[in-house]
Amino acid sequence: MFGKRYCIFRLLIVCLAIVSSLCLFIQFIDDNHLSLEEKESITGIQPNKIVHDEIKSTRSELDIFVDENPKTVVYYAPYNMTKPIFVDRNDENIFSADKENLRVIGIQPRSDLLGIVAVLQPGYFFSNLQCTSTSNLADWTLSPSSPIVHNYDLVLPIITDGGCSINNFFQGILPKLIQARGWIKFKEIKFLVHGSCDPLIGSILGEFGITTQRLISFKGGAIRSERLVNTCIVPPTHPEIFKKAREILGISTSVKDANDVVLLLPSDTQLLRNANQVSKFLERRYGHRFKDLEEQYSVNQVKSSFRKAKIIIGIHNAILSNMFFAPVGCAIIEIVGTKADGTVRPANVDPRLIWHLAISMGHKYYRIIENPVSMVGSIYLTISKLEKTLNIAENQI
Ligand SMILES: *[C@@H]1O[C@H](CO)[C@@H](O)[C@H](O)[C@H]1NC(C)=O
Repeated sequence: MFGKRYCIFRLLIVCLAIVSSLCLFIQFIDDNHLSLEEKESITGIQPNKIVHDEIKSTRSELDIFVDENPKTVVYYAPYNMTKPIFVDRNDENIFSADKENLRVIGIQPRSDLLGIVAVLQPGYFFSNLQCTSTSNLADWTLSPSSPIVHNYDLVLPIITDGGCSINNFFQGILPKLIQARGWIKFKEIKFLVHGSCDPLIGSILGEFGITTQRLISFKGGAIRSERLVNTCIVPPTHPEIFKKAREILGISTSVKDANDVVLLLPSDTQLLRNANQVSKFLERRYGHRFKDLEEQYSVNQVKSSFRKAKIIIGIHNAILSNMFFAPVGCAIIEIVGTKADGTVRPANVDPRLIWHLAISMGHKYYRIIENPVSMVGSIYLTISKLEKTLNIAENQI
C-alpha cells in the first residue's frame, strides 16, 4: 500500500522534472534573441554588472568622474546688457562717443554664451597660452617647445593674464570656477593661477574649499598635467554664474531689507580729489546710514560690509566689483574719468568692467562722467550730479 503510493509520487516528480527542463530549454533558446538589457529585466540578474562593479571598486571616485565627464558643452541663456543710466545728457554723449559701448548693449549673441569644460589627457600650460573665452583647446594638448618644469596629475587652470587679484577675479577666475564647480570637491585637484593670490581673493577661494595648498602658482616655463580640466571657455560676465556663486557662498540678503549707502574708494590712490567733500555731503544726507569704506581684505569683512548696501558709490576701479556681496537689485553709481572722445582713465581697468559686472550681478547701474585731471584718471566729482543721481536711484529701488 505504502509502496504503490510512493511509486505514483516518484512518477509525478519525474514528470515535473521533464516539464521544467523543457521550459528552461525553451527559455534558453528565447534568451539568445534578447539584448542584454532585456535579459536583465527578465531574469533580474545582471551578468556584466558584477564584473563592472569589481573594476570600479579599484578606481577612485575622481577617476570615475573623469571618465563620466570628458567634455561638457553648454550655451548659457541669452541676457540683456542694458545701458547705463545717466542724469546728465552731456555725460551720455561722451559715453556714446565710444562706439564699442553702443555695440555691446542689448541681447548678447549666442557666440558669446558658449561654455566648455573638457578633460585633456594630457594637457599643457605655458606662458603665452591664454585661458579666455576665445581659447583654442587644441593649443593645450600640444607639447610646448619650452622645457616642462613641473608634472602634475590633475590640474584645473583658473588662470588669467593679470594675476590672482580683484582686477581679474570676478570676470576672469570666478566664472571658470563656477562653471567647473562639480570638480572642486575632489581634493586631489590643484588649481592653476598666476603668481600668488591677493588676501581677499585667497579668502574667497577658501570659502569654496580651495585652500592655498590646492593652488599652483604659475611662474613661467611650461607644465604638463596627466589630466587637465580646461574650463577657459565661459562667458566672463553672466547672470547665471553670479547667481550660482552667491548661492554657494550664502549671499542672500534682500535689497528690501538694505538701507546702507556705501562710498567705496581704493586705499592707495587719490583718484577722487574731492573725496572729503563727497564724504561730508553723504554724511549730511544719510547720517548713520552712510558708510565710508576702503579696500577690504577678507571675505567675512566684505560680506558684512555689503550685506545691507542699498546704494554703492565708487570711482572707476576694480574694487567696485565687491558689489557682488551686496543684495541683488541695489544701485551702483560709478564715476568714470572719461575724455571727450570717450576714452576712459585709468586705461588699465576695462572701461566696461564695472558696468557689465553690475548688470550681470542683477544690480541697477548709474554712471557719472567727469573729466580726468591726471594720467591715472583722478577726477573731481560734481556734487550736484551725484545728488541728482541719488534722487533717481533712491526712487528706483
Ligand atoms: C533690454 O533692456 C532695455 C532696457 O531695459 C529695453 O529697453 C530693451 O527693450 C531690452 N531689449 C530686449 C531685446 O529685450
